[in-house]
Amino acid sequence: MLRLRNGRLACEEVPLDAIAEAVGTPAYVYSSASVRSQFARLDQALSGVPHRIHYSLKANGNSALLRLIRSLGGGADVVSGGELYRALHGGFAPEDIVFGGVGKSARELVEAVEAGVRLVNVESEAELRLLDGIAGERRRRMPVGLRLNPEITVDNPHAYIRTGGKGHKFGIPWDEGVAAARLAASLPWIELAGLDMHVGSQLAELDAYQRGLERIVSLMEAIRGEGIQSLRYLDIGGGLAVPYEHERPPDLRAYGRIVREAARRTGLEVLVEPGRFLVAEAGTLLTRVLYRKRSGGREIAVTDAGMTELLRPSHYQAYHHIDPVRPRQRAAVRIDVVGPVCESGDFLALDREMPDIEAGDLLAVRTAGAYGYSMASNYNARPRAAEVLVDGDRYAVTTEREEYADLIRLERHALDWRTA
Ligand code: LLP
Repeated sequence: MLRLRNGRLACEEVPLDAIAEAVGTPAYVYSSASVRSQFARLDQALSGVPHRIHYSLKANGNSALLRLIRSLGGGADVVSGGELYRALHGGFAPEDIVFGGVGKSARELVEAVEAGVRLVNVESEAELRLLDGIAGERRRRMPVGLRLNPEITVDNPHAYIRTGGKGHKFGIPWDEGVAAARLAASLPWIELAGLDMHVGSQLAELDAYQRGLERIVSLMEAIRGEGIQSLRYLDIGGGLAVPYEHERPPDLRAYGRIVREAARRTGLEVLVEPGRFLVAEAGTLLTRVLYRKRSGGREIAVTDAGMTELLRPSHYQAYHHIDPVRPRQRAAVRIDVVGPVCESGDFLALDREMPDIEAGDLLAVRTAGAYGYSMASNYNARPRAAEVLVDGDRYAVTTEREEYADLIRLERHALDWRTA
């Protein structure tokens, strides 16, 4: 939702340089309008399908964004006790929360049971038994989804964001699905309420969904064939792609058709867990160019944001478009846009062709709303950036920039030595 207004980039109606001036850099800026519009597009694509949109907090747990998504009618998808805490703090009712994750601790399962979440997606038989015990102690029958590994290979940009292939750590192996369902149905404090899959992230081609859904629908039929009739939910995970570079955005109508067909065949309510789709395009990372240099024939711009603010380029070789906030007529260069962290792998872009950059320029790193701030770190003792929400012609700081004191807040000066 960036556009040029009076020669400078603006988020909705608010010029980005005004935000940088007031809040400093690096800073994340989010557009409310973009989140609203993505939510409405997805909701529209699923019209006619009984469905709920559970926003995947891991993409961005900012509480102002959570309140916005909740106000649109969304629920939450969480994968840790911390995310459950964030979701509840963001105003989601427990029954609007689904709890997933490959390695939930006993403490986290206790928290899920005590909160009374809508659904816990379980990833192994051992976890089913543990949850049954925890629920039994509290005399609360827990609705459970079985997360199956659909065991299909997908074609997305990076191996690290593929999750549904054979041998991946996620989910119950495909051929153990019916046995896990039998076990779930036999445990006294477990209600087998759903089946769940997540085929991967940043999926532009929809055939992975189609193949995954076909498998899950046939598994559901096999489970019903066992006389187990308690299934209510079909949780189809997240994964819808957004355009970062030249990727074609997913065909939402086709997505809707595929999901509608699965819903029709199963008669189940569909849960979706989009993260990136709802917030990626809403977010811009604002960064200032500190230095401009040349080294070994390469052109280099050093910015005040890097892998500590946005890990994706460094970790996944991900592409993020970078624009000057005040475009000027300058010669095109091929340039490395690198961060200030003491790591060669710290960069926002390598060998990027763009109009030349000078020290002092303000840059907008685009499509950074998902897995940006949520993957930020304090490496090199760098305080985390501020986060700002824009709505029309207004903006508000939603997260203050960390202070140095925050870096040592949990450290003890006087050590309390003990012996075991
Ligand atoms: N549901 C489950 C079970 C997931 O594992 C994920 C993401 C989602 C939903 C949300 O997926 P989305 O709609 O955002 O694609 N850090 C990586 C992405 C990791 C995704 C992990 N799982 C990145 O920056 O690309």
